[in-house]
Amino acid sequence: MEYDFDRVYDRRGTDSSKWGRVDPDVLPMPVADMDFPAPEPVRRALLERVEHGFYGYGLATEDFHEAFTSRLKRRYGWDVAHESLVPIPGVIPGFNMGLRALTSPGDGVLVQLPAYPPILNANGHHGLVRQDAFLVRGDSGRYEIDWASLEAAIDETTRVFLLCNPHNPVGRVFSAEELRRMAGICLARGLWIISDEIHCDLMLDGNTHTPIASLGPEVEERTITLMAPSKTFNLAGLKAAVAIIPNAELRAQFEAAKGGLVGAVNILGYVAMTTAYRDCDDWLAALTKYLTANRDYLTAFVRERLPGITVYPAEGTYLAWLDCNALELPGNDACGWFLENARVAFGDGKNFGPQGEGFVRMNFGCPRPLLEEGLERIASALAGR
Ligand SMILES: Cc1ncc(COP(=O)(O)O)c(C=O)c1O
Repeated sequence: MEYDFDRVYDRRGTDSSKWGRVDPDVLPMPVADMDFPAPEPVRRALLERVEHGFYGYGLATEDFHEAFTSRLKRRYGWDVAHESLVPIPGVIPGFNMGLRALTSPGDGVLVQLPAYPPILNANGHHGLVRQDAFLVRGDSGRYEIDWASLEAAIDETTRVFLLCNPHNPVGRVFSAEELRRMAGICLARGLWIISDEIHCDLMLDGNTHTPIASLGPEVEERTITLMAPSKTFNLAGLKAAVAIIPNAELRAQFEAAKGGLVGAVNILGYVAMTTAYRDCDDWLAALTKYLTANRDYLTAFVRERLPGITVYPAEGTYLAWLDCNALELPGNDACGWFLENARVAFGDGKNFGPQGEGFVRMNFGCPRPLLEEGLERIASALAGR
């Protein structure tokens, strides 16, 4: 089936946090939310559910469990029992619940910088000490795991490794080999793993995602895996995600950590998740092809037309991590300068930790004409300075 990802929709004035927070002449490319409507089967299922007229307390149905677990098997070869799934209203609540379940104030949580801000700052919600490991750029521009920093960051207080794979913002899809080595270190040092895999479906170039927990029963026992249809199918506003916790004791601890504060997934979220995970593989294959072409367009544009900016092609996600340090913009504030001079809004690299200084994060999950527009605006602002 053909899908028209090129079509531009006007999302201004539609209660979108991406489009509603900027001046009307600004092109927003920060928040990880795509400018494509959700797949048609999801929209249809939601309409039917709304027509039903009853919106009482919902239930995670057998259909939902079946759609989710059979997809884990189909895509990742991972066998997960229905009872291992804990539906939750978001991945951010999920890793915070995991931290609450597994740590006490004063414990350490290991993260890899640069890091998505809610991961970077999660320690602060629970009185934890953040222990920093690093991803470092090799000569090619690709980020690699700094193994020495990972091992050195762990001490006797460390309880949890909060992993992000695929990695936001650097766009790495960690290989099974890298994941096996990370898991080995965690197991040897007695750590739990919370794995944020929200971007796992957004594989560019036909890359494959490996859920770290799928590496073996001993890793699965110590891991909380978080997935959601929100990035993949552009459903973030429906607040629906899943924690996969095969270890029954760990699952009970996680449930207990809700502490009366975290509720269930809303009924429309279940409908959307079930339909997206069951009926939209074809749409997703077309989407990832489109995103790969957008990524290639962006990479070529940066290399040919934006001297002073460098980028390494993302392997997954729809996020480009642009190094603007060589531009030597005032105060090294690339994000502020582009907003003011090009009227394009990006994610500010420094919010991802000190390693993000002089970087911006650009969302290329949009119709090609919008991507072209954003890049052309940057090119003319830089040419005119
Ligand atoms: C790595 C990562 N985790 C979590 C989230 C947000 O999760 P949720 O909206 O389900 O809380 C995002 C959104 O950009 C993300 O990039």
